[in-house]
Amino acid sequence: MRMYDIIKRKRDGGELSDEEISFFIDGYVSGEIPDYQASALCMAVFYRGMSLRETTALTMAMVRSGDVVDLSRIPGIKVDKHSTGGVGDKTSLVVVPLVASLGVRVAKMSGRGLGHTGGTLDKLESIPGLSVSMDRTRFERIVSEVGCAIIGQTGDLVPADKRLYALRDVTATVDSIPLIASSIMSKKIAAGTDRILLDVTCGSGALMKTLDDALDLAQEMVSIGECVGRTSVALVTNMDRPLGYCIGNALEVAEAVSTLRGEGPKDLTDVCVELAATMVFLAGLGEMDVCRSLVRDQVAGGLGLAKLKEMVAAQGGEASLLDDACDSLVAPRPSREVTADRDGYLFAMDTERCGLASVALGAGRAKKDDAIDHSAGIVLVAKPGAAVRAGDVVATLHAASDSLLDEGERLFRSALDIRHERPKDTPLIYARVSGSGVERRAARRSPKGREADPSPDGPVPRP
Ligand code: URA
Repeated sequence: MRMYDIIKRKRDGGELSDEEISFFIDGYVSGEIPDYQASALCMAVFYRGMSLRETTALTMAMVRSGDVVDLSRIPGIKVDKHSTGGVGDKTSLVVVPLVASLGVRVAKMSGRGLGHTGGTLDKLESIPGLSVSMDRTRFERIVSEVGCAIIGQTGDLVPADKRLYALRDVTATVDSIPLIASSIMSKKIAAGTDRILLDVTCGSGALMKTLDDALDLAQEMVSIGECVGRTSVALVTNMDRPLGYCIGNALEVAEAVSTLRGEGPKDLTDVCVELAATMVFLAGLGEMDVCRSLVRDQVAGGLGLAKLKEMVAAQGGEASLLDDACDSLVAPRPSREVTADRDGYLFAMDTERCGLASVALGAGRAKKDDAIDHSAGIVLVAKPGAAVRAGDVVATLHAASDSLLDEGERLFRSALDIRHERPKDTPLIYARVSGSGVERRAARRSPKGREADPSPDGPVPRP
């Protein structure tokens, strides 16, 4: 077999055999196939696409390139959750303990912030003492005894993806549906859980900017899951605005805790209930309506919060800091209010720029090894759909210095679009994609002059 022939076949729109795909992945990981041939194949896939059979073969060849986690010693159905990334997306901190509080085991390997998007590990590390790196034995013990754990990747999972993703990043071949789907699903399959919930975000703060692309990616990943016996469901969720009101690590932990107390913003609460209910459904606890009410009851009874504290304590963190309003979790920082410069409606908020603003404030990394300021970030006051007057505060920024606040303010202001017209309502959840097809959801009307998903009267966490 020759790599030249494989590239040529894909370039000309042909279909690759499973053997050819394995030959490529094995050779690329061993170093026999050079970067220039791998990048030529990625570009051919970018233009020609892949059939579901090819994408599944690519996924499984990547799974075989490294370690595979065996969770069979942990009793029961294990369910995992993956988000394609967003801004203010702290859903894992809410959903994982909620699902575990219903007796469904969640063994979750998460990532760090990347570009403008935040990462669950960085958020968790704002809790003093908490460790996200541990060996498999301790990880399995916590999942068995507590019901959930969230850690960084252990072992050498999917080395093929590490190499290929770095190559795609510099050869303009990241945004190809078969390459993204195989990259994500290979990591989820290697992580060893039985069922997978995929949160495919869509909009200005997401990898998928359009609904068509998000639906394509969701369908492709769910189909791969079906083909390899890992039942998967995807929710396509709205990332045209940050989720909740807080962006930044400790701020987001505080907002997640208030959501687990039943006092969180409505958009975050509604998405978390749907994600958690879908995981519980995947674990076989009942139909979706039953699962939604099971999840809501856990919130009302404070059982999700109790489970989060148990998990934090088991991972070495100071769980008592999650009491009350998490006051001592967010250290005081110099702050600056950003106000509206005219009357009108907050028509849109470029969510990628909001994420970049929070990175500039210190909440994320510009370079891989940069330190994070866990208390930096943005607390929104208004979200798209809100009526504002010139001088109204739209958000408060928090950072360690005035120069960081200057840069954060410049970026945050560039994200705001205030107009006379009110934006159209868009759904919080666009669609649910499962093995039985795509179920589209409609937008709920919101009262005129109010935000599409207004916060309840409860307080938004502030440092
Ligand atoms: N996230 C991944 O893990 N892989 C991709 O290819 C894109 C986003």
